[in-house]
Amino acid sequence: MFQRLFQWLDERLGLTTIHDIVLDRKVPKVNWWFTLGSASLFLFLIQGITGIFLTVYYVPSPDHAYDSVQYIMNEVRFGWLIRGIHHWGATLMVLVVFIHMLRTFFYAAYKYPRELTWLSGVVLLLATLGMGFTGYLLPWNQRAYWATTVGTQIPGTIPFIGPFITSVLRGGSELSAITLARFFAVHIWFLPALIAATIGLHLYLVIRLGISHIPDENE
Ligand code: HEM
Repeated sequence: MFQRLFQWLDERLGLTTIHDIVLDRKVPKVNWWFTLGSASLFLFLIQGITGIFLTVYYVPSPDHAYDSVQYIMNEVRFGWLIRGIHHWGATLMVLVVFIHMLRTFFYAAYKYPRELTWLSGVVLLLATLGMGFTGYLLPWNQRAYWATTVGTQIPGTIPFIGPFITSVLRGGSELSAITLARFFAVHIWFLPALIAATIGLHLYLVIRLGISHIPDENE
């Protein structure tokens, strides 16, 4: 029964072909450092799932943001767990993505023909840091408020365009409801969409080009 259903779907969707290309590829002899790309992907998915659950109760307005986070922590069943995973997962993702980048750098995996894999990785790193920066403001507590005040002030020191960047980030001269709404939208829509699309490109390149091998002493 299941086999016939699978065959029916396979004939139409090409599931076996997708499986062979994506999962049954030849890979060179590698080591544990080569698992960090997949670990980054796993963490991104975890962040996405826990983040979606958090939006059920989180309210992005200065009047309610702090209380809604307290509500998630103290009242919502397993809210503390979902938020805890999202909170620590964010730190872990930055760390893992960064070490993944170091791995590809030290193995010189950025060289021909993988330049675009590296460049799409740079976009992923910046977007991941952007997720951390925008997410930090959302609890709207003292630490979040002042960290973002300082964080949005830093680009303001760039000559000529600095003040413009600060006011675009803040949506005005001070942190306000507009800043919170802006950071929330960027955190849950703009950056995740960018990261998802860029991961698609990154993985397409990884599959198309194959991963680099560790050179031996004869090379
Ligand atoms: C969300 C972030 C990222 C995800 C999900 C991701 C995912 C992956 C995966 C699954 C692989 C194949 C397995 C492996 O080599 O680990 C890979 C390879 C690669 N990644 Fe990433 N990556 C991310 C960020 C980055 C960053 C920040 C860079 C560098 C700036 C980068 C550069 C590369 C390169 C050059 C390869 C090819 C490695 C090789 O052929 O040996 N990636 N990535």
